[in-house]
Amino acid sequence: MQILVTGGAGYIGSHTLIELYKAGHTAVVVDNLSNSNPESLRRVADIIGIPEIPFYRVDIRDREGLEKVFAKHKLDACIHFAGLKAVGESVEKPWEYYENNIGGTLVLVDVMRKHGCKNIIFSSSATVYGDPAEIPITESCPKGQCTNPYGWTKSMLEQMLMDIQKADPEWNVVLLRYFNPVGAHQSGRIGENPNGIPNNLMPYITQVAVGKRKELGVFGNDYPTPDGTGVRDFIHVCDLAAAHVAALKCFTNALTHSLNNTFIYNIGTGKGYSVLDMVKAFVRVNGVEVPYSIKPRRAGDIATCYCDPSKAEAEIGWKARYGIEDMVRDSWNWQRQNPEGY
Ligand code: NAD
Ligand code: UFG
Repeated sequence: MQILVTGGAGYIGSHTLIELYKAGHTAVVVDNLSNSNPESLRRVADIIGIPEIPFYRVDIRDREGLEKVFAKHKLDACIHFAGLKAVGESVEKPWEYYENNIGGTLVLVDVMRKHGCKNIIFSSSATVYGDPAEIPITESCPKGQCTNPYGWTKSMLEQMLMDIQKADPEWNVVLLRYFNPVGAHQSGRIGENPNGIPNNLMPYITQVAVGKRKELGVFGNDYPTPDGTGVRDFIHVCDLAAAHVAALKCFTNALTHSLNNTFIYNIGTGKGYSVLDMVKAFVRVNGVEVPYSIKPRRAGDIATCYCDPSKAEAEIGWKARYGIEDMVRDSWNWQRQNPEGY
């Protein structure tokens, strides 16, 4: 298939490009570079062994810009990563988050349908479960209250895409609910490249290890978890990338499924590791120091979040292959080789 990859210059998008080409697909990338660097695409092309990845610096809110891309390329499906994703910033700038993520997706979907391209894989998040009603989380767990506008954009976009599919059964909609992506391509040439102070655990750990930050703050050690720190379902970004390729099956197999062609999958490993488990594994596997101190809980955090990923295995044949040691090794391999990012 020829796939439109929105947000393809970003962390998960760049890794997914590699998996797409490995599986024999081709891609066209649209990204406004608001949170990425086109160097990632040059390195991806190098890793794949092609001269370049077709790329348009276009904002998904720019209807004419998208129209031109669709006029130029025959696109079979879209993997839609483009969006703003900083939880804390979304609390400060809710309008910007709703306008970019929801406004952008509505323009994208409209242009897609006008061009007869009605297959979409959407980057959703475990955040739609709120404080989950059950652990491990299955896809039938009810959605919950999000604690920030970013989370609400994911929850609302899921609903919008499902409604659009219901009204026009030619659409096939796949909602992938990612758990906590970490790690990097094994080459160490592409990886997560956050602007400013990292919000997320793994980039914070790697920046402490490389000497850019003094110590990690561990947000709370009084949660009802084995060691008191938060537990998450960390997933290697290359496994996550491969899940998108597996999910393309939903488009080719769609008619064999029911008329309701919305597919929802949890994308995690099914294992929960605590913040301190991650720190200790990082130190042990990489032989580097990561000083830390215990800080108060972070507002909006939940104690435990991990999934039951068996539906994705049963229906699209996808399962995580990498474990915690691969995750911490590959995160470090990227940071060590690229202390200042791209
Ligand atoms: P990222 O910021 O690295 O990538 C997103 C890309 O989208 C960036 O390259 C950015 O420049 C681009 N973009 C943003 N707004 C755009 C717009 N209006 N038009 C065109 N391009 C635009 O983030 P990521 O970690 O690769 O995340 C990819 C997707 O997965 C996002 O939708 C994110 O919300 C979702 N997600 C991420 C995580 C995570 O922890 N990384 C977890 C769950 C879901
Ligand atoms: N943590 C620390 N110190 C830090 C950063 C994080 O102790 O400096 C802890 C958090 O308190 C939490 C755990 O590490 O217990 C994981 O935190 P992250 O910020 O890395 O990830 P979250 O689970 O909070 O959120 C992530 C993404 C969201 C997404 C959510 C569910 O950032 O976008 O997973 O998919 F919605």
